[in-house]
Amino acid sequence: PVLVVDFGAQYAQLIARRVREANVYSEVVPHTTSVAEMMARNPAAVVLSGGPSSVYADGAPRLDPALFDAGVPVLGICYGFQAMAGALGGTVAHTGTREFGRTELTTEGGVLHQDLPTRQRVWMSHGDAVTQAPAGFTVTASSPGAPVAAFEDLDRRLAGVQYHPEVLHTAHGQQVLSRFLHEIAGIGSTWTAANIAEALVEGVRAQVGDRRAICGLSGGVDSAVAAAIVQRAIGDQLTCVFVDHGLLRAGEREQVEQDFVAATGARLVTVDAVDTFMAALAGTSDPETKRKAIGREFIRSFEGATAQVLGDAAADGATVDFLVQGTLYPDVVESGGGAGTATIKSHHNVGGLPDDLEFALVEPLRLLFKDEVRAVGRELGLPEAIVGRQPFPGPGLAIRIVGEVTQERLEILRAADLIARTELTAAGLDGEIWQCPVVLLADVRSVGVQGDGRTYGHPIVLRPVSSEDAMTADWTRLPYEVLERISTRITNEVAEVNRVVLDVTSKPPGTIEWE
Ligand code: XMP
Repeated sequence: PVLVVDFGAQYAQLIARRVREANVYSEVVPHTTSVAEMMARNPAAVVLSGGPSSVYADGAPRLDPALFDAGVPVLGICYGFQAMAGALGGTVAHTGTREFGRTELTTEGGVLHQDLPTRQRVWMSHGDAVTQAPAGFTVTASSPGAPVAAFEDLDRRLAGVQYHPEVLHTAHGQQVLSRFLHEIAGIGSTWTAANIAEALVEGVRAQVGDRRAICGLSGGVDSAVAAAIVQRAIGDQLTCVFVDHGLLRAGEREQVEQDFVAATGARLVTVDAVDTFMAALAGTSDPETKRKAIGREFIRSFEGATAQVLGDAAADGATVDFLVQGTLYPDVVESGGGAGTATIKSHHNVGGLPDDLEFALVEPLRLLFKDEVRAVGRELGLPEAIVGRQPFPGPGLAIRIVGEVTQERLEILRAADLIARTELTAAGLDGEIWQCPVVLLADVRSVGVQGDGRTYGHPIVLRPVSSEDAMTADWTRLPYEVLERISTRITNEVAEVNRVVLDVTSKPPGTIEWE
């Protein structure tokens, strides 16, 4: 792998993602990883990420110069660039010029910026600057605040840039990363959807052998792709369980029962649990209480289904040994897991499964980012309606009804949600929107007029957001005509709704969901 050393800023994961976009496998490692530990992983290259703004800052992470004698190609970025310059005998100074944000970079020669415009927009974030490159390096770029903004030493396959090539504000950042990986480090492009899928299928086969596994399907992308991989690996030793809790959107049950099964041939058990869930939610309007009730009922339904899966075989002592989960790489990194550490606290993708379930976990997606999950899903033949699906929370529509959840309110929300989804798709906006929760303010009423009559109905909130990872988000600037169409249709077609409002809050401070 390419190891991205995390110096504590938020950029390491993003760098790893961009490296993979260049078809090279990469993983994030903490900066406390020793050079020996890194070399034991046999890395194709090491990328040093950004970090604190100054190498002189108190407690700034140190870089072991032995890394540069290990014969591995290294790219330093921002803080990593300065740390690299310092470790190799260059000069890093407080120049008094701080650069933050958009900056113009001027390049001259070199491999990193070859074939790119000699003036380009980059994203900077630094206080100190490299004023003299270490011996053996050629300086290939500068900016107003950074006399040495990039350098390279092709003999030793070392290079660095002061700016952030991983952020989208840097015009040619992806090309620069790609040039480092392919031209300077000489790494091939092997990280492709087909190769990933094949490796994951083999991995699952090796882990599960001839035993049985079970997988909860939520209707979401992650569980569907995880299940598809495991199905490809072990066939009917896998049973998928779909709990219909009645909190899904229009068409979702059909998507699982028909489209998913048709595409994968997976064995599916559906648990009809609508009445149980409605009973558990009756009289509850507090968001956390709702979430907990749903989690609890989900576990019960799932356990019930396990018995059903084994059926007669249970009498012969047969067991289900594995639980498939759609945990993704960002969860693994954020829980401090990293590669090779097996005992993580499992992230609960499907409404919260308990820790004391007696299953070993199969997590085929634990090294993948969301876009890679989608690519693998397509590779395995899952329909676009499933792989292209927007994120949808485990507790479903229950946390999009502000107030008590009732059948009638679910129907109202389902109708409004379907209109919003249909119109956004028709307007070609799916690519721009990360997700668009549609929320029913069931405890709020406002006065309206329809026909000649006064109405006293509920508002529907549209919450379209753009995001790369759901950690932060901005509200999507939807075209007025589209908003108008959605508003008109919802107020005309959905009884009880007489007002449509738009949520224009970013995250933070607002979360994406209302509850
Ligand atoms: P928030 O509302 O925290 O949501 O900004 C961030 C992302 O997570 C989704 N979400 C959930 N997903 N179970 C899930 O599987 C949940 O309980 C849950 N709550 C929120 C939300 O839709 C958004 O994509």
